Amino acid sequence: MQITVDVNGKSYAREIEPRLLLVHFLRDDLDLTGTHWGCDTSNCGVCVVWLDEVPVKSCTVLAAMVDGKSVRTVEGLASTEGLDPVQRGFTQCHGLQCGFCTSGMMMTARALLDSNPDPTEPEIRAAISGQLCRCTGYENIVRSIRWAAEYEAAEAATDFGDDLDEEVTA
Ligand code: FES
Ligand code: FES
Repeated sequence: MQITVDVNGKSYAREIEPRLLLVHFLRDDLDLTGTHWGCDTSNCGVCVVWLDEVPVKSCTVLAAMVDGKSVRTVEGLASTEGLDPVQRGFTQCHGLQCGFCTSGMMMTARALLDSNPDPTEPEIRAAISGQLCRCTGYENIVRSIRWAAEYEAAEAATDFGDDLDEEVTA
């Protein structure tokens, strides 16, 4: 079957098998390997992307289901202005070890901050509760997301966001 999907602002038309999962479509057909593939059973969350602005586990979605829709992956997180604050937070606070869970964590974190710009630690932990970090780096992942929240608050309060990286502490 033929599908057309917007991924990170770019339109792709592809012929696919109806049984193809979204995670494999992204990785194998579009070469967007930032989205990882782990358990394939909806447990680990390394495959989280946005489907029409809502985080989903892409191993639970058929590529056929995204025909005509919009998908955002970790490759679409940064902008022409640079890394997303969430990406900066993971860098500043050492929010990754092996990095296998990181793209999914960041997509969930971005969605959380878009809906709740000042999340508490329990709210952050609840938001990422559907995702596993095999390296058990949860403390720094939570700190990274809080850093991003504080960065964005500081950025909103000033017009000098580019200078804030060293000033914001988690
Ligand atoms: Fe999708 Fe684990 S690969 S939840
Ligand atoms: Fe290794 Fe999370 S950093 S799985």
